[in-house]
Amino acid sequence: MFENLLWLEEVNSTQEVVKSRNLPAWTVVVANRQRLGRGRLGRPWHSAEGGIYLSFSVPRGFRDECTLPLVVACAVADYLAELGFRPALKWVNDVYIKGRKVCGVLTEGLKDRLIVGVGINLNQEAFPPNLEAISLKMVSGQSLCPLDFLAGLLEQMEKGLKELFLVGFSALKERIEDRLLFKDSEVVLYTPAPVAGLLQGIGKDGSLLLLTQEGLRAFSVGELTLRPR
Ligand code: BTN
Repeated sequence: MFENLLWLEEVNSTQEVVKSRNLPAWTVVVANRQRLGRGRLGRPWHSAEGGIYLSFSVPRGFRDECTLPLVVACAVADYLAELGFRPALKWVNDVYIKGRKVCGVLTEGLKDRLIVGVGINLNQEAFPPNLEAISLKMVSGQSLCPLDFLAGLLEQMEKGLKELFLVGFSALKERIEDRLLFKDSEVVLYTPAPVAGLLQGIGKDGSLLLLTQEGLRAFSVGELTLRPR
């Protein structure tokens, strides 16, 4: 799957490199730094030296397409667990450790392909105080070799994506639910209107299931927070 790799020193955004150059699907573009890294909902993505910033494109039309960010985030979490970390998946596309964000996934749809972007906080020593972020180095006290890390991560992502394409989301749903942050907790989902409920799990299509005052409801977008007591 991931046979070609383009590793660049600094770019505006790896998403833009994949979009603007006519690279074959699955070519992985990695950068050490991004000048204009971007996250979901038009937010910037802090992209200083020390992190890993990567993007690749996937041909459209496979089944369970909308679950792609969740499956990619789950592959990152699986890999971090393999390395000895204790990650949790924050629906719909984040990986958290110790209550702080260590990875974010962004998918952008074009007519014939999806561009998948993954930002991982690897070896940064600190973040601006307004960010709820942490790096693997800040967790473990040890630097990780970016090349070894990337090789293992791509292997894990390939496994998850093949399962999605060949079997479908049902093959991954249980594993994702096991890793789900705030499961069985009272949460508020900003849709953007706030909806309070008990987080029950994930639906067959990757939606978030909340037990609200109106009963069990499924959501496909929103920002999740713990409900203040
Ligand atoms: C999010 O949590 O909001 C998603 C963050 C995605 C960041 C990655 S870093 C590589 C790729 N290039 C970008 O500009 N964004 C994504």
